[in-house]
Amino acid sequence: SKTLKIAALAGDGIGPEVMREAIKVLRAVEKKFALTINITEAPVGWAGIDAAGKALPDATLKLCKESDCILFGSVGLPDRDPTIPKEERPERAALLRLRKEFSLFANLRPVKLPKELSHACPLAKERQGTGIDILVVRELTGGMYFGQPKKTEQISAGASKATILRAIDTMVYTTPEIERIAHVAFKTARLRRKKVTSIDKANVLENGVLWRDVVTTVAKEYPDVQLEHMFVDNGAMQLVLKPTQFDVMLCENMFGDILSDEAAALGGSLGMLPSASLGSAGSTGQFGFYEPAGGTAPDIAGKNLANPIAQILSTALMLRYTFNLNDAALAIENAVGKVISDGLRTGDIFSASETNARKVGTTEMGDAIAAAI
Ligand code: NAD
Ligand code: IPM
Ligand code: MN
Repeated sequence: SKTLKIAALAGDGIGPEVMREAIKVLRAVEKKFALTINITEAPVGWAGIDAAGKALPDATLKLCKESDCILFGSVGLPDRDPTIPKEERPERAALLRLRKEFSLFANLRPVKLPKELSHACPLAKERQGTGIDILVVRELTGGMYFGQPKKTEQISAGASKATILRAIDTMVYTTPEIERIAHVAFKTARLRRKKVTSIDKANVLENGVLWRDVVTTVAKEYPDVQLEHMFVDNGAMQLVLKPTQFDVMLCENMFGDILSDEAAALGGSLGMLPSASLGSAGSTGQFGFYEPAGGTAPDIAGKNLANPIAQILSTALMLRYTFNLNDAALAIENAVGKVISDGLRTGDIFSASETNARKVGTTEMGDAIAAAI
């Protein structure tokens, strides 16, 4: 059978801890489904700087280009940031660089609160309704993250000799960039509850007006999908007031970054939110980049405390979107569901008020999920 070729870039902080558990689970899947999975690990982030002097070493980039997909951990260690120029730091020099290099414009972040974890959701039970189930579709290669100019400059300080600095980030979107991500949102909504809430700031931003116009036009091709527009400030509030109103949330890059962390908390924990970053609309069998939505969690790194589920569910998305192995993806998702209903909890989803819950570490959680495969 075909060999699945995966580049595994664990990165920094909890990255290596959760990657180890994801690979453990992948090996269990390989055995169960008689697959041949070739996993090559390579350094990225501060680990790349330490190993090869760059956040994205040439050999790591080469490996990514030769692989079917990238399984990514997290990068960035704020404590070390002052030691190098901002452009060379891992978030920009590795993560954003890879997203751009592979044109990964469509970022899918599925938030689903398991019924057994309602205690881990910050909202009262009645606000959780019959269940929180939201897909954030985030545009990933445009907007303020990449727009030019992007710089910090010294400007004329006038009569006083004080130095004044001015920082500039530029929000730029073109119609094709908005169209392609809108198509992803409408296509995925068709496989769900057929509702898209498009988030923008059309009351202030030029970008918001264009976003709303283009999304409205694209929506005409999907008459079976309900479209609603919402300003981002209201969207942030509606998420905590009535999260069950949302099916697919379509967001530009930065709004999607912010709202997906907010939504992650509603789903129980940022440590459970996986993501898929894809380069072409809606199809399967494609190059992809799979990573937890959260970061390196320096506050809990190295202590066997991190929840590995976001990384493990990211491998399920990888099997589904890059390899068309939906049964294998479901096996992982069901195994995660089983250990949760069995009561296993890392610290982020543990509550002493639960009867039959057992607090476990990162490795024990990974072992249990691998065993449940
Ligand atoms: P973070 O996501 O690392 O952590 C935020 C909070 O969530 C922390 O309290 C952390 O303990 C918790 N958390 C995150 N993942 C968890 C997990 N798997 N299990 C349990 N708890 C978890 O965000 P931050 O602290 O703002 O950023 C830390 C570093 O990570 C920064 O350098 C940032 O740039 C970087 N970062 C990287 C990525 C990425 O590589 N994809 C994503 C986000 C942040
Ligand atoms: C994420 C992260 C990244 C982002 C950072 C680390 C560059 O927060 O993947 O959500 O802002 O996209
Ligand atoms: Mn983020």
